[in-house]
Order: sequence, then C-alpha cells, then structure tokens
Amino acid sequence: MESPHIFLVGMMGSGKSTLGRGLAAALGLPFQDLDEAIEERTQRTIASLFERPGEFGFRACEAQMLRELPTRFARSVIATGGGAPMHFDSMSYMMATGTTAYLRLEMDALAGRLESARAERPLLAKPDWRASTEALLSLRRSVYERSDVIVDTGGQTPADSLKLLVTKLR
Ligand code: S3P
Repeated sequence: MESPHIFLVGMMGSGKSTLGRGLAAALGLPFQDLDEAIEERTQRTIASLFERPGEFGFRACEAQMLRELPTRFARSVIATGGGAPMHFDSMSYMMATGTTAYLRLEMDALAGRLESARAERPLLAKPDWRASTEALLSLRRSVYERSDVIVDTGGQTPADSLKLLVTKLR
C-alpha cells in the first residue's frame, strides 16, 4: 500500500538524515528534515533554541513543524528529531499520517557514533552524556517500537541499512 509520507524515527545518531536522503532518492520522493526545517524557520540553531526558549518551547515548535511538513508535498520522506515522537502525541500523529520506520541502534553502537557528533546536540553537551543517552533510549524504546517497520542498523554498513530500508518500504 502506498502511504503518503514516510517518517523515520530513532535516537540521535541512528542515521535518520543520512538514510532518509538515500531512501528518498531511491523512491523518487522529496526528502524533508525536521531539525533543518525548524532551523530554517526560526533562523536559529537547535542548540540555541534549547537555551532560549528552552526545551519545552523547542518541543512545541518541533510538534508544529512536524505537522506542517506533510502539507508541503503529497508524499515525502521525513527524518524526525530523536525526541519528536515523545511529545504532543506525535507518534500517534505520524502513524495516522503515514508509515513510520524505526532505525534501531543499541547503546554501544549508538555511543560510538555519538562520540564524534556531540557538539551540535544540546542533550549530549554534558559529561555524563552516555548514561543520559542510555536513560533516554530506555524511555523512548517502547514508543519507537510502535513503528510500522523496524530496521536494525547496527553492525552493518550504511549501504546495507539503506538496501534493507528500501526493501521494507518500497
Ligand atoms: C534530539 C534530537 C536531535 C534534535 C535535538 C533533540 C533528541 O535530532 O532534535 O537535539 O531529543 O533526541 P537528531 O535525532 O536528528 O539528532
């Protein structure tokens, strides 16, 4: 069945933006990135939005943009931010609006990837980022796992993850 939009969900560093671009190209669909759309609209970085108005204000803006993106195209691939499904009942919204795919990566693999990408992520800007990421993952896992499709991206190359994703979503 053709679903209008494909929403990629998962933790920071799970490859939503990179694989999302590849998936969109493979399916011949436009690609939209939620964090990028927020930065474009507000002319601010995600890190500075976390400082002011703060995380709650950021989440409200994120939920609003998540509902705007599907109105821009008839169909598209949308990479969401890691926390988006956790607020304003957005997981249910995405499930009602299209197909959801969880890019699943367990903690060790995730930590390896995040180590080099901490600078632009406010939730990782603390010395105990590994423990807090683990806590976030255990809080989020059951919500992510409501997704229509789950793709395990650990232990394989990005090219193989992309192939798997395309096969499951074509
Ligand atoms: C967040 C993930 C980030 C970004 C913000 C908060 C989170 O997006 O929205 O830093 O709560 O996990 P990515 O998952 O694209 O890194």
